[in-house]
Amino acid sequence: MNTKTGTNINEAISLLRSGEIVAIPTETVYGLAGNGTDEKAIQKIFKAKKRPLSNPLILHFSNLEHLSKYVKNLPKHAKILAEHFWPGPLTLLLEKSEIIPATVNAGNRRVAVRIPNHEMTLKLLSKIDFPLAAPSANLYGRISPTTVEHVLNQLDQIIPYVLNGGECNNGIESTIVGFDENSPIIYRLGAITVEQIESCLGQKIKIHNHNIQNSGPDASGMVKFHYAPRTPMYNIEQICTKEETSKFGYIGFDTLNHLIPAENQFLLSEEGDLRIASRNLYHAMHHMDQKHFEKIFICDFPNEELGRSMNDRIKKAIAKFNA
Ligand code: TXA
Ligand code: MG
Repeated sequence: MNTKTGTNINEAISLLRSGEIVAIPTETVYGLAGNGTDEKAIQKIFKAKKRPLSNPLILHFSNLEHLSKYVKNLPKHAKILAEHFWPGPLTLLLEKSEIIPATVNAGNRRVAVRIPNHEMTLKLLSKIDFPLAAPSANLYGRISPTTVEHVLNQLDQIIPYVLNGGECNNGIESTIVGFDENSPIIYRLGAITVEQIESCLGQKIKIHNHNIQNSGPDASGMVKFHYAPRTPMYNIEQICTKEETSKFGYIGFDTLNHLIPAENQFLLSEEGDLRIASRNLYHAMHHMDQKHFEKIFICDFPNEELGRSMNDRIKKAIAKFNA
């Protein structure tokens, strides 16, 4: 199958209406979208990504009114968060209504929903009468895409169309919040920080313990290996100075590392700005992965605000090579 890229929203819509899957831009990462009410389209998404059916998808809507038809209710805290952060990089886990096929959310009681903040995709969503089920448009376990090129690197010839909406603004996935007996819990760290959520709700928020395996909902954070490049990646603390470092690459925050040649390094934000750094994180990982280094090293980020979300992704990316 030839993969076309372009900015034609109507072309994307007619493919989606005919049950096809299309990569779409969002403010976080590109999504691999299909009609969220069409069982066959949903199966195509899982197949194209090689994703296990046990890992549920997020439904995307253009407005709260449309979204409300697909969930049983909107708890008090959910309503506050929705009004504050949507459209934006927040995903809520809510009780699903019967119209959603069970394959979307792996038979869970709850479904993940969000209103993304990307002009092109909001326009597309406003022209269709079904939600778009869309996981990140990468192969299972690999790095999420923040540009059309990243999508093509993994899904070229596998999907018919990539809607080109430029580079994703946030560059890291949405933050997932669920509710346990009405108390909010963060299931996945992401583009909206814990601090922002706490300040919006005026209370401390629990973060779900991602290390608990086989219990509770299957959130992405619980998969041990994720977001990984093909080149082995390690924390910079693990570098051994006795090794030949000229074939090593380094992804740093704002400062070059003196052990590795400067031309092998990618600084995420020379000005030390976490927002810029998190926008560039996946791009840097994709870029360095193409350089044929023997190993890629990466630094830790300050464990606050977006640094915390970045550390979460980095931890999962390097887990594969430290197993
Ligand atoms: O920013 C984002 O959220 C992007 C863009 C495309 O919207 N999407 C995204 O989807 O990151 P995905 O599928 O790569 O990650 C969503 C994660 C899944 O790994 C899944 O485990 C979790 O959300 N999730 C979805 N539905 C869930 C549910 N009902 N209960 C628990 N976790 C759920
Ligand atoms: Mg993903």
